Amino acid sequence: MKIKNICCIGAGYVGGPTMAVIAQKCPKVKVTVVDINEQRIQLWNDPDVNNIPVYEPGLSEIVEEARGRNLFFSTDVEKAIDEADMIFISVNTPTKTYGIGKGMAADLKWIELCARQIAEVSKSDKIVIEKSTLPVRTAAALKDILDSTGNGVKFQILSNPEFLAEGTAVEDLRNPDRVLIGGDIDSEEGREAMDALVNIYASWVPKEKILTTNVWSSELSKLTANAFLAQRVSSINAISELCEKTGADVNEVAKAVGMDSRVGPKFLKASVGFGGSCFQKDILNLVYIARSFNLQEVADYWEQVIIMNDHQKRRFAANMVRTMYNTVADKKIAILGWAFKKDTNDTRESAAIYVADYLLNEQAEILVYDPKVTAEQIYSDLDYLGSRSNDANRQAVTVVNDPMQACKGAHAIAVLTEWDEFRQLDWQEVYDNMLKPAFLFDGRRLLRPDTKREIGFEFYAIGN
Ligand code: NAD
Ligand code: UGA
Repeated sequence: MKIKNICCIGAGYVGGPTMAVIAQKCPKVKVTVVDINEQRIQLWNDPDVNNIPVYEPGLSEIVEEARGRNLFFSTDVEKAIDEADMIFISVNTPTKTYGIGKGMAADLKWIELCARQIAEVSKSDKIVIEKSTLPVRTAAALKDILDSTGNGVKFQILSNPEFLAEGTAVEDLRNPDRVLIGGDIDSEEGREAMDALVNIYASWVPKEKILTTNVWSSELSKLTANAFLAQRVSSINAISELCEKTGADVNEVAKAVGMDSRVGPKFLKASVGFGGSCFQKDILNLVYIARSFNLQEVADYWEQVIIMNDHQKRRFAANMVRTMYNTVADKKIAILGWAFKKDTNDTRESAAIYVADYLLNEQAEILVYDPKVTAEQIYSDLDYLGSRSNDANRQAVTVVNDPMQACKGAHAIAVLTEWDEFRQLDWQEVYDNMLKPAFLFDGRRLLRPDTKREIGFEFYAIGN
């Protein structure tokens, strides 16, 4: 089956970059990315390609090349569904905030809406692909909905979870460790649909890196991959606290442990806690699924990864307060970095939000600088927690667009995102303009302790 028209529902951090790379690598396929969020689509179509809503190194260049040629962004969801042979569902699947499974299960209302819309609009057979991260067995529910119209249109459902990490999305998409495709391997139609998707990826991904499997294994592999990755971060973060008590250095421990080829060196960087839209929600989802099968030990095991992460964020902030003579009330604290990691403008579940909230509860005055995050986003992240009124957040938090301005007259600085530019700051000048003693808390192990202490900073880093 030759695919000519692809539609992707959801123009977010996954839909946007993924489809841009498919459009670049398959110039003969028309790719239309649709979204109900008009403002988001408007930004994807902004004549100034620097204004696209997702910041990823290298992405604007690809959009510039393919947009208007075979890559389109639109709010006309129905038209795009109607025209497509292949539909990717790439909508958000956040943790439920209401009802059964509140705070644990994935909220599938947007997924179901998509399925209903596809069922309603489709007049020809289609391949429907789960690109969003979904609980295992969601494909069964999708199939029920899609097949419910009884109008003779046939759907093949595939699972094709996305493994890109933000900040490196373009590189991850161009050169993935693997592509995973789950489908109905027992039927000829199922195998044909899988082949059609394999052929899209095979335009640039070596065949041996494209894995095909059954749908349930594919769905569960995605949740498991994120759980394993997050578990490594929580494991090293747990050790970071022990390092602080014993005089060991967590970077040295991580290096020694990671050089064992059975462990490997990646994802062993101690931090103020992992953030991002997926690790927490996917592990909570895994825990919820395990509990729903009455697998209490399995659920408790994975839940500990989240418990450790919450502890790491809280203890970083508590240590700041304790170090500054047990009070930060009315003290000026500069937060450098708000994004959940470098090279992205995404702030979902960023540790910075929780550290700031803790310090605000202690009545600190906060100045924030992040090179890619807007003031509007920072206020909305704090407002969402509901810890105080929106006005109180605006009174206590000032967002600036120059790191020097954030640090001027501050009692303390907290580095919460590992942006490269923070290494290059004139730290002597920063120190000269601060109140003394000048406290510097490095939540990312980004800065060199010796040079900072030489300047005169009271320097604290995670795991040291
Ligand atoms: P996102 O919130 O950035 O984007 C989702 C988009 O879908 C939004 O713009 C929203 O308006 C749109 N949408 C929701 N319902 C819609 C509907 N019915 N019709 C049209 N548009 C609709 O989310 P994201 O970060 O791109 O994540 C999407 C999925 O991919 C999630 O399941 C996530 O777990 C998974 N995932 C994310 C990442 C990542 O790094 N962000 C990586 C791998 C997998
Ligand atoms: C993660 C996975 O890495 C992707 O494979 C997956 O596709 C994605 O989740 C998803 O499903 O959404 P992402 O959250 O974008 O990607 O970014 P990561 O690089 O995994 O970082 C997550 C968090 O862990 C960040 O806050 C980061 O700073 C932190 N981290 C990461 C550490 O604290 N230490 C590390 O060693 C690595």
